[in-house]
Amino acid sequence: MARPDPHSWHDDTQPRTRSLELKLAVDFERRILTGEATLHLAGASSGPLDLDSRGLVISQARTGGGDAVPFSIAEDDPIIGQRLRLELPAGTSAVTLRYRTAPDASALQWLQPAQTAGGRHPFLFSQCQAIHARSVAPLQDTPVVRIPYRAEITVPEPLSAVMSAAPAGERKGPAPGTRTILFDMPQPIPPYLLALAVGELASRDLSPRSRVWAEPETVERAAWEFAEIETFIRKAEELFGPYDWDRYDMLVLPPSFPYGGMENPRMTFLTPTLLAGDRSLVDVVAHELAHSWTGNLVTNANMDHFWLNEGFTNYAEHRILEALHGSDAAALSWAIGRKSLEESLARFGAGSPLTCLRTQMKGIDPDEAFSSIPYQKGSLFLVALERAAGRKRFDPFLRDYMAAFRFGSLTTEEFLVFLEEKLPGLAARVNARAWCFEPGMPADAPAFTSARLGQLLELAAAWPGSRPDPVQAAAWPTDEMLVYLQNLPRTIDAAGCGWLDAHLKLTGQGNYEILVEWLEIAVASGYEPAFPRLREVLGTVGRMKYLRPLYKAMGTRAETRSLAREIFTGARDRYHGLARRMVESLLEAYPANAHAP
Ligand code: BES
Ligand code: ZN
Repeated sequence: MARPDPHSWHDDTQPRTRSLELKLAVDFERRILTGEATLHLAGASSGPLDLDSRGLVISQARTGGGDAVPFSIAEDDPIIGQRLRLELPAGTSAVTLRYRTAPDASALQWLQPAQTAGGRHPFLFSQCQAIHARSVAPLQDTPVVRIPYRAEITVPEPLSAVMSAAPAGERKGPAPGTRTILFDMPQPIPPYLLALAVGELASRDLSPRSRVWAEPETVERAAWEFAEIETFIRKAEELFGPYDWDRYDMLVLPPSFPYGGMENPRMTFLTPTLLAGDRSLVDVVAHELAHSWTGNLVTNANMDHFWLNEGFTNYAEHRILEALHGSDAAALSWAIGRKSLEESLARFGAGSPLTCLRTQMKGIDPDEAFSSIPYQKGSLFLVALERAAGRKRFDPFLRDYMAAFRFGSLTTEEFLVFLEEKLPGLAARVNARAWCFEPGMPADAPAFTSARLGQLLELAAAWPGSRPDPVQAAAWPTDEMLVYLQNLPRTIDAAGCGWLDAHLKLTGQGNYEILVEWLEIAVASGYEPAFPRLREVLGTVGRMKYLRPLYKAMGTRAETRSLAREIFTGARDRYHGLARRMVESLLEAYPANAHAP
């Protein structure tokens, strides 16, 4: 097999990168990173070496000894980017590439001061998963090639930098008014976990091994919201074994961050929409922390096996939450997950190959195929295995799995072989082949019930005849409110919307999960009193989990279709490139507005 990863030019018959050194200057004026990347190879090598790149401008390539290395960009693919082919002279053990990134590098978002909480300084952050590390540095951008890395990042003096790595000191920068911050990531990571953020940052210690970083304006709120992180880490260690990455720090980004969280090792990146003020959205942190085992320690070989990352992590997240808050709370969370699964099944069609756990993503952009399926179907498959084996056998299996593949990457097929070896016959009992290789959901998929979940579903089904008691509803925990709202009809008349809004205080919600769930109904129902809040949310928040349903809901009515176009025109430059492309394709799929003759 020469090219094992459908999303990389990496050729496994060629030399392998053993480690990476980056020396980059952050140029906010030109919106580029400039400098060099040195790839140390597994041994003295020669001949072709194919790297991934996207938009990189390479000005020079030299061996460790200073000899020129011929290079060319031979192939360019709209999804996976450019193949940068080096021709290594005999005996090459390291190659240094001088380069700069493109101003529209797909991993990077360059923010104007006005897009930050402080409003004084610009901000830069990266989002490399799934296949965007190649827009930051030339490398073998596939999770099977794990690498430790070191970096020297030069930034304007007042700004700080953090990476998915340990800080390793700093010195004066080469130009006046700059400083160079050093980083060291000694453990080998898949390239999608390379991460950098630069801005005006402050931090607060939460425990001896954890601190939170954010803009000074946000850092106190962040420290309060995530104060219980050590409890999460300890619980996760009880379940999955010692935390292997030394520190667990977090960075709260400006609101355009396109995800809820990203599990960059040693430095989880988080959306500020988690700062609800009542710690009700910290399940995202439990999820990103769980990736320290499932994903960062044991990784999918490529995006065809993404469920090994996200399905395991959703499962692990639920085990942590269940251990801390009990199985009734977990049942509500599973019900919310099941809803998002149903939405993804409907989006692709239940017979679509994208609803298999093991996918065939050659020719498909992973960002476009992103859905809840690997998360929810993947974790339900693990619950099916857990229930069939019993936790007494399944929990040791999980620990064996992590021990066997730690700092490795594997495929679905390799997982199934390991499962058969450790728990013979179990796969056949739950029909693992159907789970992994067939579309849609098995009819006997695990379900979760609890008395409270049942009551909420009943109450929602009884709308509008029977309505929640406003005093009681005011005390509902977030997940209860979410289950209720998710199970209401998708459109409700103006009087009904008015009642819900007034009695459940929805439009004024500061909790984004509840707010967006409500706005979906309000928008699809044409409930105009919520529109100013809708504009405000879409004008500031770039989290795709919220943009997708809101722009989608706006597509259902002619008036809101034009509103969507108007909002997007004003907001597009504030979104991350990924989010911008996602919204553009939603808008393109809108039916054309009917025009009067
Ligand atoms: N690793 C993902 C985010 C991701 C996936 C980025 C694929 C790029 C490509 C992260 O761990 C994640 O799943 N985040 C979720 C939160 C979680 C609680 C489901 C999110 O961003 O909402
Ligand atoms: Zn995840």
